[in-house]
Amino acid sequence: MSGLAIVVIGRSGQLALALQANPGPHRLIPLSRPQVDLADPGNLEPALRAAQPDVIINAAAYTDVDGAETHSELNAAINAGGPVALSTIAAELGTPLIHISTDYVFDGTLGRPLTEADTPNPLSAYGEAKLAGEALLDVHPNAAVLRTAGLVSPAGRNFLTTILRLARDRDSLNIVANQTLTPTSADDLATAVLKVAENLTARPDPDLRGIFHAAGAGPLSWADFARAIFDASARAGGPTANCHDIPAADWPSPAQRPADSRLDSSRLATHHGARLADIRTRLDDLVRRALVAERKTTR
Ligand SMILES: NC(=O)c1ccc[n+]([C@@H]2O[C@H](COP(=O)([O-])OP(=O)(O)OC[C@H]3O[C@@H](n4cnc5c(N)ncnc54)[C@H](OP(=O)(O)O)[C@@H]3O)[C@@H](O)[C@H]2O)c1
Repeated sequence: MSGLAIVVIGRSGQLALALQANPGPHRLIPLSRPQVDLADPGNLEPALRAAQPDVIINAAAYTDVDGAETHSELNAAINAGGPVALSTIAAELGTPLIHISTDYVFDGTLGRPLTEADTPNPLSAYGEAKLAGEALLDVHPNAAVLRTAGLVSPAGRNFLTTILRLARDRDSLNIVANQTLTPTSADDLATAVLKVAENLTARPDPDLRGIFHAAGAGPLSWADFARAIFDASARAGGPTANCHDIPAADWPSPAQRPADSRLDSSRLATHHGARLADIRTRLDDLVRRALVAERKTTR
């Protein structure tokens, strides 16, 4: 496949960095603030016209789930208004668009892995705004929305780096055991996103457009996820801590999260040929790289 020119909105986020680390044959053009601001979409059009991309990937979002409860205007602007404005411009330019959404559009009460046919019912302001952002499909039919979950990577702020940092100072951590999700490696999501980009530019099939779940294959509670991270850390000579299971009710947080938001990503596999691994098979590599990154920043 010959390389595509791909604009990536967002530069230093987990997915944006994973895309830039492994672009394959493609030329990535990261656009971020102050050049391009999803909260103030006026500057999007000139930047996109100048870049002339074959595909646009929106890897940017307001991702502070608890902060979104109070910063409601910013959350709505970046997660709902910005993506819809972006898709209006992409449609005018005739450029395919890939946007990332979340398992938090669901309330997590069904008790089985969720498919694209299941009805969203967000519990949080973040989930509500991300669901509103999915309306970009109404203005741009040549688009794909990939809902992912529990993204982790070796650097930046995420569950993996946070609990490794906490384990440096504490012997025991309280971790929520009654919320289950399908955690996802940002590297695997990046690979899937590029595959979708290639397919959207190569084939007009309607089956390649619309909503897709794009999460890791293995469901875990946050507590079991933490234990798996510490097992990998122990193998790599990194920090570990005992995980003490607690219910979500004992971890008061501004935003309510779904109890069971496992995503079934088989539609993505069927139509785009992209399969995301069980996060447990990625943890030795991710933890080893996280420990290296940690050493570099503390030097
Ligand atoms: N993290 C998760 O666990 C998770 C779970 C489910 C879904 N998702 C979704 O997955 C996608 C990628 O998440 P991530 O974890 O990679 O995010 P992240 O690491 O928090 O990075 C967010 C990115 O958004 C950019 N950004 C924030 N506000 C912006 C604005 N006003 N205009 C332009 N760019 C802005 C940041 O820009 P700078 O480069 O300028 O800093 C950064 O690159 C998002 O759509 C998120 O909602 C994430």
